[in-house]
Amino acid sequence: MNSSVSPAVNDRLDVSKLPGHIAIIMDGNGRWAEKRLMNRIKGHQAGADAVRRIVRTCREIGIPILTLYAFSTENWQRPEIEVTTLMSLLKKFLDSERNEMIENNIRLNAIGQIDKLPEDVRTSLKRTMDLTGKNKGMLLNLALSYGGRAEIVDMTKAIAGKARDGKIDPDSITAEIVADQLYTRGMPDPDLLIRTSGELRISNFLLWQIAYTEIFITDTLWPDFGKDEFIRILIDFQRRERRFGNVR
Ligand code: IPE
Ligand code: IPE
Ligand code: MG
Repeated sequence: MNSSVSPAVNDRLDVSKLPGHIAIIMDGNGRWAEKRLMNRIKGHQAGADAVRRIVRTCREIGIPILTLYAFSTENWQRPEIEVTTLMSLLKKFLDSERNEMIENNIRLNAIGQIDKLPEDVRTSLKRTMDLTGKNKGMLLNLALSYGGRAEIVDMTKAIAGKARDGKIDPDSITAEIVADQLYTRGMPDPDLLIRTSGELRISNFLLWQIAYTEIFITDTLWPDFGKDEFIRILIDFQRRERRFGNVR
């Protein structure tokens, strides 16, 4: 592991008990910029650097799946200039990180209403997904134009359509069949959900998948979020007792 994390912190992390899937609500870019009397856009630029840091850290310590909430279905309501800038930052990120993802055996995937993204972003996304499609080192899932309710609506339409066509018996629908129609098909549910910048809410993220996910909320604003704090959160996670409704 990288030497920039203090050895004491490193020592307390049990690498045999890492979460298989971490999801992060990357919040606080705007406040980070406002605190510095800067435009919110600067906060999103600094946020992109934090994404690079955390992706690298996850790859280094061996986290199999990382899901990052980058843009929600509700974020389309923001001022046009902010939406346009976020989309161009996203395209820049996809283009600039492509080689590093290839070199580091990271597979990129996107979840959400991808058809709503601008065409140039979709092209960059497809190119990166195609070029990293066979990578097995880590799965990086970007939630883009993602909404948990929209995902559940899409799943409902898919299953209802199958029932209408006689391909599925409504009485035989199970949680597995539902999960199989979500954008996260085939992935284990997140073990750990981190939200930065202190809000105590889910904001329409992975509503079905977080049923038994451990939640960690930090006041740190996303652009300030770094490796040291991330490892401390992993150590906290390893100390928790997960019961899944059972007794100890
Ligand atoms: C998170 O930061 C990034 C996106 C939602 C795209 P915000 O832009 O929500 O930052 P705050 O919450 O206004 O500080
Ligand atoms: C959640 O943050 C969405 C992302 C991080 C992409 P928001 O800033 O949009 O959430 P609210 O508005 O505080 O609930
Ligand atoms: Mg926010």
